[in-house]
Amino acid sequence: MNIILIGFMGSGKSTMGIRLSYRMKQPYIDTDKYIERKAGRSISEIFETDGEDAFRQMETEALEALIADGIRDHVIATGGGMPMKEENHALLRKLGVVIWLRIRPESVLERLASDTSRPLLQRPDRETLIRDLMEKRAPMYAKCADVTVDVDDKRVERIMDAIFTKSRGVWNRKKRMKYE
Ligand code: S3P
Repeated sequence: MNIILIGFMGSGKSTMGIRLSYRMKQPYIDTDKYIERKAGRSISEIFETDGEDAFRQMETEALEALIADGIRDHVIATGGGMPMKEENHALLRKLGVVIWLRIRPESVLERLASDTSRPLLQRPDRETLIRDLMEKRAPMYAKCADVTVDVDDKRVERIMDAIFTKSRGVWNRKKRMKYE
């Protein structure tokens, strides 16, 4: 069964994804990296030359490709905007157990204070932007997720334990649905 991590920029999807992948001995996929490899360009370049809508289309195509390839038993980290398209919800949930790493805007601001790699954040009013985006996105993350784990002020090990504890039931249920 795949584990899919969703959540806001800076919520630790990649960090947690890599740690989970080690602990579970399951390969790791990052949809941002997958898209960059396929496009031969960085996310910033894609935003700059093709625009955000084109990137969003690439995100959906990446999910469709993972499903078509029959990817199983992987840990998959997604871009923070992935759940904003409702059609992606069904794809994400079809892929596996969807875990929302929930973070407060203040923590995002702190963690990404000097970030230059995320095109959406390259604005002087970063704090307002993060708050506004979070307000719009939180309901979509909640709608898409099977499981929610709060990550503020928590160490990686504790987050990992919470992921395992909270996912177990969903995991078994989804596994039965898929293989029975
Ligand atoms: C985005 C998040 C980024 C990346 C792109 C857009 C977003 O991924 O997909 O810059 O809309 O929140 P991370 O969440 O891994 O930073």
